[in-house]
Amino acid sequence: MLTREMERELVRWAVDARKRAYAPYSGFAVGAALLAHDGRIFTGCNVENASYGLTVCAERVALFKAVSEGAQEFVALAVACGQDVCAPCGACRQVLYEFSPHLLVIMADGEGKTWRTAHLSELLPHGFGPDHLRG
Ligand code: THU
Repeated sequence: MLTREMERELVRWAVDARKRAYAPYSGFAVGAALLAHDGRIFTGCNVENASYGLTVCAERVALFKAVSEGAQEFVALAVACGQDVCAPCGACRQVLYEFSPHLLVIMADGEGKTWRTAHLSELLPHGFGPDHLRG
């Protein structure tokens, strides 16, 4: 459970990260900010490529940065993009589910004026995770 002020703070980080998006092909800039259990915040932006399919979404950039820095448990993710609020794509939902099936997802517009929240388990019901491989 995050206070409204904590949500706002994480959205601010996502909006700031969005400014660093490399999106010359789609023109669609996305920013993400991932709050770890230990209080650290990891940011990400989408990074596109001339070979379009190699593009990596902002959420996954944030997650991979976090894991590579030793964080594996997460409380909340804010994502900021576009005119209206948007939700993480299916691939990002799956990758986030690996670490935090109950993650709070804060979906904001590109300027962080409005946002709504949902838990990852709502966005990816019956998700496939590490437990399924254990028998
Ligand atoms: N994108 C993200 O960064 N996150 C999402 O959840 C959806 C899509 C990016 C990928 C691509 O650079 C651009 O938005 C348009 O699809």
